[in-house]
Amino acid sequence: MKNILVTGGAGFIGSNFVIYMLQKYPEYNIIVYDKLTYAGNRDNLLEVSDEPRYHFVKADICDAETVAATISKYDVDTIVNFAAETHVDRSIMDPDAFIQTSVYGTYVLLEATRKFNLERYHQISTDEVYGHIPYGRSSKETDNLEPRSPYAASKASADLMVNAYFVTYGLPVTITRGSNNIGPFQYPEKVVPLFATNAIDYEKLPVYGDGRQTREYQYVIDHCEAIDLVLHKGKLGEIYNIGTGLDMENLTMVEILLKTLDRPRDLLQHVADRPGHDRRYSLDISKIKALGWQPRHSAEEAIIKTAQWYADNEWWWRKIKSGEFKKYYEAQYGARLRDAASE
Ligand code: NAD
Ligand code: TYD
Repeated sequence: MKNILVTGGAGFIGSNFVIYMLQKYPEYNIIVYDKLTYAGNRDNLLEVSDEPRYHFVKADICDAETVAATISKYDVDTIVNFAAETHVDRSIMDPDAFIQTSVYGTYVLLEATRKFNLERYHQISTDEVYGHIPYGRSSKETDNLEPRSPYAASKASADLMVNAYFVTYGLPVTITRGSNNIGPFQYPEKVVPLFATNAIDYEKLPVYGDGRQTREYQYVIDHCEAIDLVLHKGKLGEIYNIGTGLDMENLTMVEILLKTLDRPRDLLQHVADRPGHDRRYSLDISKIKALGWQPRHSAEEAIIKTAQWYADNEWWWRKIKSGEFKKYYEAQYGARLRDAASE
């Protein structure tokens, strides 16, 4: 492994992974391949922009010709695929791009891996492919996939295609399924950065339904360390869950955020729930632990660190929240917040 193509590397987790890998492996070259959708942001990669081992290609993973030309140009031997449309609420509003990128785009990358005989293809997947998990249970890698949102279904489809290429063509693949990541550079549509930035501005935090849904919030660098481990020590054809093993209610997450940012509790506003909302995700992480990894942060530590990062980095998020985001926010929350206020 020497020349790694990181697709979706200008997004939240991808950019954290790129910075982490360039720092950790002085002999690796990283080629970020990213379409720069609304969620892609070159500001995330400013820290490495002068690094000669870092290259950037603005292109779509569905464009097979440009994928092939990039692999040839940079002598790529490994693909790590982060590229995806990633927000459940947007997938409910309009699933089209989710299907294009995760289903067709993953197929394009797998075909390129086959054609160029690459050393490794690694797929970044999610705990959402397992669907809602009842209390008292955790998902194992061998469990059935029961995705319930268009986003989760697009990610599950990609996992199935990756597995098919392993079985049919013997492609050297691995898959990791991460729980909810939080940390620097997360687009403020996801709950923790949305609530942190709203709270900083004394705006309402729109909690869906009763707020007692649970998620496994993990710090993004912990996730990057586990992906690194799977890339170097993972068994081909295998899937690894990555999380904390502990889920937390959204209301608890909100309490921690408000306390960290020293904001009043009345900012919390219950609003109409998300359709098809998965109440709980929970991962069994014994397989990745057995490979030699464990999370360094609890969910609470991750939330505190993330809230502090948003408080210290207004330069990063204020310009995002003033653009396309405003239209999205009105479409997603405008009526819900007005209805909740009039109740
Ligand atoms: P993100 O939305 O912040 O970034 C996605 C990146 O992919 C953006 O830079 C975007 O420009 C790029 N992209 C989208 N479509 C593309 C295309 N067709 N061609 C090239 N680039 C394209 O997402 P994220 O939160 O960093 O998630 C990264 C990956 O991790 C995704 O595959 C996601 O499903 C998975 N994942 C995310 C989480 C989480 O909590 N955020 C948890 C588990 C798994
Ligand atoms: P989100 O960050 O969208 O991630 P996921 O893909 O896991 O749904 O949401 C995390 C949790 O927070 C989920 O239970 C939905 C809830 N949520 C809200 O209550 N309000 C919001 O405005 C958002 C975006 C999410």
